Amino acid sequence: MGALFKAGIIGTGSYIPDNIVTNKDLEEIIDTSDEWIVSRTGIRERRIADATMATSDMASIAAKRAIKKANLSPKEIELIIVATATPDNNIPSTACIVQENIGAVNAAAFDINAACSGFIYGLITADQFIASGIYRNILVIGAESLSKFTDWTDRNTCILFGDGAGATVVGRVDKEYGILSRYLGADGGGSDLLKIEAGGSRMPADLKTVEKRLHYIYMDGSEVFKFAVRIMTSASERAVTLAGLTNKDIDFLIPHQANIRIIEAARKRLKLDEDKVYVNLDRFGNMSAASIPVALDEAVESNIISKGDNIIMVGFGGGLTWASALMKWAY
Ligand code: ACO
Repeated sequence: MGALFKAGIIGTGSYIPDNIVTNKDLEEIIDTSDEWIVSRTGIRERRIADATMATSDMASIAAKRAIKKANLSPKEIELIIVATATPDNNIPSTACIVQENIGAVNAAAFDINAACSGFIYGLITADQFIASGIYRNILVIGAESLSKFTDWTDRNTCILFGDGAGATVVGRVDKEYGILSRYLGADGGGSDLLKIEAGGSRMPADLKTVEKRLHYIYMDGSEVFKFAVRIMTSASERAVTLAGLTNKDIDFLIPHQANIRIIEAARKRLKLDEDKVYVNLDRFGNMSAASIPVALDEAVESNIISKGDNIIMVGFGGGLTWASALMKWAY
């Protein structure tokens, strides 16, 4: 069945914790240096939520801001999708907690876990419900509390991550705007490269798993790096081709914010000028599913994006997963 309606983003919002942790601060707790972190990753500082703040708290603030921007009330939201790899609990979903927090009493709610690709997985899921006419207004949120799952004694990972939330309202837009292409992918063969080993049904939590620090994020950085450079470029190109466009038509790239070297490799292959690529990892680090919607909200708020621009969003992450979408900005 063809699409009945065209879906696009009609409002954005974000929330970033106040607490800044700089590379210099990390020099105090692990064997690293500001120079090493900046040259290998591009990250200078990240935001860390305080002990009382969970993923749903950040997601709810971002969601309220996005709903306001879309000139809607929470009661008009019909579905909430939260993309997160760091939920408040296994049960209930973080989306249900957000629904209660913001008073979206008419919304269905569920979570998606596709790690750093989660926001685009959520966006493309929402696109289907809008296109088919089932729902009119959907909240798609990317929110993460990575600091709570980070081993602060592991210099391979703790320098990379930050906390935050970005939200979008996806709704009907005029037919020449909105999502023009969508591409999702996964390779479960790479599932061991990025994982939290314990706390699930394979290895339930017990004293030994806690002692062995198996509830924290493990990552094979160099393997993920090679995969990321390859997939970031190919997924971006795929989004362009599927939309029937060429690289020359791209006005803006919003990539997942994992490492400046990964972003630069993709930018050069796509032959984009530096000012066409949004980068905020120097200030926020890698916020997994929150990276893309936070970057999008910042770009919209600072008027870098304007109506009619062709924007590619591209992400990759644990799973392994990847996702891209091209959209013509609708407002
Ligand atoms: N400070 C100083 N030295 C360090 C640090 C640090 N913070 N971390 C690692 N090192 C050392 C290692 O111990 C290793 O030393 P050794 O060779 O003596 O064992 C060496 O530096 C590793 O160096 P490289 O292999 O050159 O590091 P690389 O250039 O691969 O950079 C990094 C590491 C930044 C992790 C990179 O591999 C990367 O960005 N990977 C991709 C991460 C990513 O994109 N993740 C996305 C998904 S995240 C998600 O889904 C939640």
